[in-house]
Amino acid sequence: MFKLFGVLSVLLWSFALAWPGPRNLTGVSFQIVALSRAPDMHAINGSSYAIKYLSPPIMTRAYAVFITIGTGGGQRRQALALDTTTSMSWVMCQPCRPELPQEGRIFNPATSPTFHGVHSNDPVCVPPYHRLHTTNRCSFHFSSSVGRLARETFRLLNQQRVTESFPGVVFGCANGTIGFHNHDILGGALSLSPAPLSLLTQLGAHAGGRFSYCLPLPRMFEHLPRSFLYLGADVPRPPPHANMTTIIMQPGVPGYQLRLIGITIGDKRLNIDRHVFDDHSCSINPAVIITEIVEPAFLVVESAMVPQMKKLGWNRAEGPSGGPLVFNKMHRSASLEFPKMVFHFQDGGELWFPGEYLFDTSGMKAHFLVGRGHRMTVIGATQQVNTRFTFDVGRRRLSFVSQWCS
Ligand SMILES: *[C@@H]1O[C@H](CO)[C@@H](O)[C@H](O)[C@H]1NC(C)=O
Ligand SMILES: *[C@@H]1O[C@H](CO)[C@@H](O)[C@H](O)[C@H]1NC(C)=O
Ligand SMILES: *[C@@H]1O[C@H](CO)[C@@H](O)[C@H](O)[C@H]1NC(C)=O
Ligand SMILES: *[C@@H]1O[C@H](CO)[C@@H](O)[C@H](O)[C@H]1NC(C)=O
Repeated sequence: MFKLFGVLSVLLWSFALAWPGPRNLTGVSFQIVALSRAPDMHAINGSSYAIKYLSPPIMTRAYAVFITIGTGGGQRRQALALDTTTSMSWVMCQPCRPELPQEGRIFNPATSPTFHGVHSNDPVCVPPYHRLHTTNRCSFHFSSSVGRLARETFRLLNQQRVTESFPGVVFGCANGTIGFHNHDILGGALSLSPAPLSLLTQLGAHAGGRFSYCLPLPRMFEHLPRSFLYLGADVPRPPPHANMTTIIMQPGVPGYQLRLIGITIGDKRLNIDRHVFDDHSCSINPAVIITEIVEPAFLVVESAMVPQMKKLGWNRAEGPSGGPLVFNKMHRSASLEFPKMVFHFQDGGELWFPGEYLFDTSGMKAHFLVGRGHRMTVIGATQQVNTRFTFDVGRRRLSFVSQWCS
């Protein structure tokens, strides 16, 4: 039985990668909303939305797009986090425990005539989803939400900024969340992963396996959108000088993996054992707040950062080992031009993280906004700002270029 499920998911997987040709490609766009809040200390708990390295006065941030789901009296506008890893979009549904405050009212399936639960015999109900034979439902268990699969009408803006309806989109209707740091705004997550049930895949020729975003810096008390998430034909062509790297997708490994082979801090290329990169994947996900570097590599980053910061007038603060890296100003004239970090990829692409996006300074302290990852490295939102990332999933290419979008 397990074998059969495996084969089915591989089949669905290859189907997901057979994108329509460029001739029939159309597009959709979403305005990106940047949210900024003091971290909610109750939400510090093992999900991808967790904030274990951040504590007040550091502000956390989240990036969302607005999407309308449901019809009739059940129609709701939802702010959904951009997520390249989750295998399917999901939304909190009434009743949901806990019922987190969110922008607008929670989606209530009972009031939308177009809502239909996915039956346990439905062909989409294959792993990672579970058939519940007692209730004939199909359920999902993600790190930050649980619930059942359903189909519903999603309403999106097309190229001409006209609302278009997409009936029967499969999504996760969550009746429970675990450590979902939703800033009192997010209603769930929008999946941009390569999985068969991601919104990217379900949009078919409206996305063509291509999307592009540039994350702006959040501004306090202002949620005005200044940047777009583009899909399909709306994706701008990357400029010729854009850096590029190969995207690796493997069934069973969620999201997009990049082949990281080296790290530079300041002008110093670090001496990190090649096996560390071979044994631990590196992915990119705007739903993760700060970049996390897998522990053995993080230790090398840390020991290179401390002397470089000392030269600039910053002393490492005492703290628990394994905790966040914090520096204290040694004198008033300490430099605020922090060392940059560079990720080197196997095919020559380089992703530069300017020092200003690596530290949060408040008074006499500077907090390093990069944490240690457990099994993998993840490039998070804080270090992605003001760079346009363009994913061409069909060609397995990620291009990135600096762009002021704040
Ligand atoms: C493009 O669209 C036309 C008409 O809608 C359809 O007949 C054709 O099969 C489509 N081609 C591809 C490659 O999807
Ligand atoms: C974190 O989750 C565990 C169970 O998974 C729970 O017992 C604990 O109370 C949670 N912590 C916070 C701060 O919510
Ligand atoms: C959510 O629904 C599932 C079945 O679909 C059920 O097993 C679970 O107890 C529910 N969780 C909550 C928090 O109500
Ligand atoms: C692309 O790489 C060049 C060096 O090869 C670097 O100067 C530039 O900052 C990189 N762009 C981004 C967005 O990282």
